[in-house]
Amino acid sequence: MQGKLIVFEGVEGSGKTTQIQRTQTWLLSSGLLHPNSQVVTTREPGGTALGQQLRQILLQSAEPIQDRTELLLYAADRAQHVEADLRPLLAKGAVILCDRYTDSTVAYQGYGRQLDQILIDQLNQIATGGLVSDLTFWLDIEVELGLSRARSRASASLDRIERADLSFHQRVQQGFSQLAIAHPERIVRIDASQSPDAVSQQIQQVLQARLQDWSRS
Ligand SMILES: Nc1ncnc2c1ncn2[C@@H]1O[C@H](COP(=O)(O)OP(=O)(O)OP(=O)(O)O)[C@@H](O)[C@H]1O
Ligand SMILES: [Mg+2]
Repeated sequence: MQGKLIVFEGVEGSGKTTQIQRTQTWLLSSGLLHPNSQVVTTREPGGTALGQQLRQILLQSAEPIQDRTELLLYAADRAQHVEADLRPLLAKGAVILCDRYTDSTVAYQGYGRQLDQILIDQLNQIATGGLVSDLTFWLDIEVELGLSRARSRASASLDRIERADLSFHQRVQQGFSQLAIAHPERIVRIDASQSPDAVSQQIQQVLQARLQDWSRS
């Protein structure tokens, strides 16, 4: 099987980080992959060392960040991540589990900040050089439940995006929902309001079927 890019998307506190860890553990012990297969976890922003500095700016900046500046900083992080990490890993046949990718830009900067969607699509194209995810899990959860989970997390201080008002997060949610309708093959909706085990089970079921398809093609 060739390398695969599998992305986890969703609003704050939807369980992306939790489920990526669980998926990595499960994949490595599932027997579904070749024994030498690499299963790598990474995230945006902040998958590279340069990206880590951009993440710091994006989430902690004291100076207000203008919407188009924000868009470009996320794009810079993505361009670095794709070229330096994702493409080389895929070329080696790795399965990559990535916390956020292009759909987050459409949802947050397009629907949330209400920047021009065509501009965002063009910028995503520039940043990725056309690298599209093989499969994206949208962890669908009510915004308020996600935010309350994020607030109760051990490292409870909220970042710049998490502090945005509720209507912003509701527009973001609307964005993910529209994306899932527009790309039903690529984006799979997961009911993320359930227990961690129940969410993992939904993900594993989809992934098992996809891995079988991929290994046949
Ligand atoms: N299914 C679940 N039920 C209840 N609590 C959960 C569930 N999944 C994760 N949590 C808890 O909710 C909090 C947020 O989960 P997690 O950090 O995985 O979400 P996230 O989508 O990565 O959030 P962020 O967008 O802020 O990075 C954590 O404290 C986690 O332990
Ligand atoms: Mg997370």
